[in-house]
Amino acid sequence: MFVIDPSTSLRVLHEDDARELFLLTDDNREHLRRWLPWLDVVTREADTRAYLKATLKQRKEGRGPVFGILYDGALAGVIGFLPIDRVNRAGEIGYWLARERQGHGTMTLCCDFVVRYGFLTLDLNRVQIAAATENIQSRAIPERLGFKLEGIMRARENLYGRFVDHAVYALLRTEFDAAQK
Ligand SMILES: CC(C)(COP(=O)(O)OP(=O)(O)OC[C@H]1O[C@@H](n2cnc3c(N)ncnc32)[C@H](O)[C@@H]1OP(=O)(O)O)[C@@H](O)C(=O)NCCC(=O)NCCS
Repeated sequence: MFVIDPSTSLRVLHEDDARELFLLTDDNREHLRRWLPWLDVVTREADTRAYLKATLKQRKEGRGPVFGILYDGALAGVIGFLPIDRVNRAGEIGYWLARERQGHGTMTLCCDFVVRYGFLTLDLNRVQIAAATENIQSRAIPERLGFKLEGIMRARENLYGRFVDHAVYALLRTEFDAAQK
C-alpha cells in the first residue's frame, strides 16, 4: 500500500477485488466508454476477474504492476503499466478515475507516483503516456508532469468503430533525474 495523500492510496489489485472493481466499472460505464475501448467486453464480474488475473501474471513476469486507487478506503479508479518492454526498459502508463472523483488533482498525484515507481523501482529508461488527441483531461496529466509531446500516432485506438489518433508523450530517465535537482 502506498499513501499518496491523507485520503488517497494505491495498492496492487488482486482477484478478490473483482466484485468492487466490476461494480465501479459498471457505475461509470458511460463516463469511461467515451475514451476507453474495452467497456463492451466487460459485462460481468468474471470479465473483471479475468482482467485482474492477467494483470497479476504481468506483474509476476516483471512487466509492471496495476494499482487500484483507493479514496477513503474505497476503490475510485485504476492506474498501472501496460506490459513493460524489458529489453528497451520502456513502459506505458494507463489510468482511469470514477466520474465523481475527477477535478481534484488525484490522478496527477497518482501518476507522479507511478512514474517515479517506473524509474526508481522498475529501472525504466522511458515512460510513455498516450491519449486520444481530443482527450484534453487525460493529456493534461503528462503535460503537468513535464512529459514531452513526441508526436501523433494516427488511428491508434478503435473507440467502438471510430479510430482515433493519439498524442504520445514520454519522459526519459535523464529528464526525470534532472527534474529532481
Ligand atoms: C483522464 C482522467 C483520469 C483525468 O481526471 P482529472 O480529474 O481531470 O485529473 P486529475 O485527477 O489529475 O485532476 C485534474 C483536475 O483537478 C484540478 N486540480 C485541483 N487541484 C489540483 C492539483 N493539486 N493538481 C492538479 N490538478 C488539480 C485541475 O485543475 C483539473 O481540473 P480541470 O480539468 O477542471 O482543470 C479522467 O478524466 C478519466 O478517468 N477519464 C476517462 C478515462 C480516460 O480518459 N482515461 C485515460 C485514457 S488515455
